Amino acid sequence: MRIVVIGLGTVGRSFCRLLQDRRKELLSKYGLDPRIVSASDTGGIATDENGLDVAQILKLKESGMSVAEIPQKGSKGKSGKDAIESVEAEVVVEATPTNMVSGEPALTHLETSIKTRKHVITANKGPLALAYPALTELASYNNVSLKFSAAVGGGTPVLEFGRRCLKADKILGIKGILNGTTNYILTEMDTRGISFEDALKEAKDLGYAEADPTLDVQGFDSGAKLVIIANMLLDMDLTLKDLSIQGITSVSASDITAAKENGSALKLVASIEGKASVSPIEIKRSDPMCVSGVLNSVKFISEFAGEQVIIGKGAGGLETASAILRDLLDIRQSMRI
Ligand code: HSE
Repeated sequence: MRIVVIGLGTVGRSFCRLLQDRRKELLSKYGLDPRIVSASDTGGIATDENGLDVAQILKLKESGMSVAEIPQKGSKGKSGKDAIESVEAEVVVEATPTNMVSGEPALTHLETSIKTRKHVITANKGPLALAYPALTELASYNNVSLKFSAAVGGGTPVLEFGRRCLKADKILGIKGILNGTTNYILTEMDTRGISFEDALKEAKDLGYAEADPTLDVQGFDSGAKLVIIANMLLDMDLTLKDLSIQGITSVSASDITAAKENGSALKLVASIEGKASVSPIEIKRSDPMCVSGVLNSVKFISEFAGEQVIIGKGAGGLETASAILRDLLDIRQSMRI
């Protein structure tokens, strides 16, 4: 399978590493023989129809260089869009940083992939939060898959749980901790008594935070994930502007202590129970959705099954890359039929 990888930050690189490390198993178990025929970063693109050398890409990126520097294969100044338009491939993996104002450049990457009839997988929440209905319709019209398992829950299959496991039920509402960075910050402020700034720095160093971490701490990342859940699992036609969003920037050490004294913890919670909102609220420590650190938790409230909570790591390069690989395997399976 020929793959174009757009964006070689934490997630893009982790995806390349996963393909390399699991090559044998992917072939023997799933019949998947992935070839990265083009990869791009902010410096340009590299292309090889026989497949680029993944170890070479990773080494180059570790030393802070662009794939455009690869001799004979690199082209400086060319964009991800150029790669999608000019390279023959079955699948595009879009892993550029999230932009929640215009959705770009990811929005263009998704539209171009779909219009050139390539299946596309993204971990990017921006375009989905801004244009979910239009993008899913475009993909369906062009008869290609648009997959975004990695956009919600990191490696935790939140969307799959709702879509597959609860398909015979009716989801009435959801409530969740959808952002790993803010949960990490609130947990570390609570348990180690460190400052907001120090905890945010740690979350950045651990690869949890967005390239622009204001998206995490101001609640927009949680909001975007809520929009995706609302559209996909609750058939609601929401975009980001329909939400009421409050982040954690004004949470103080005394708010955290007050919650503790109530037997609770302060968490950034995204919910759809009637209206859709994101805000810091106190959750009882005995509640299964009261998770710590980078963990996410999502409580599904459904008509027949009642309440169910899914928990798992909500951020991190390899975790998120594993969700991209899950989507890739689904595409591989659908191509076989
Ligand atoms: N910055 C995001 C988070 C990454 O902290 O949850 C995963 O979407």
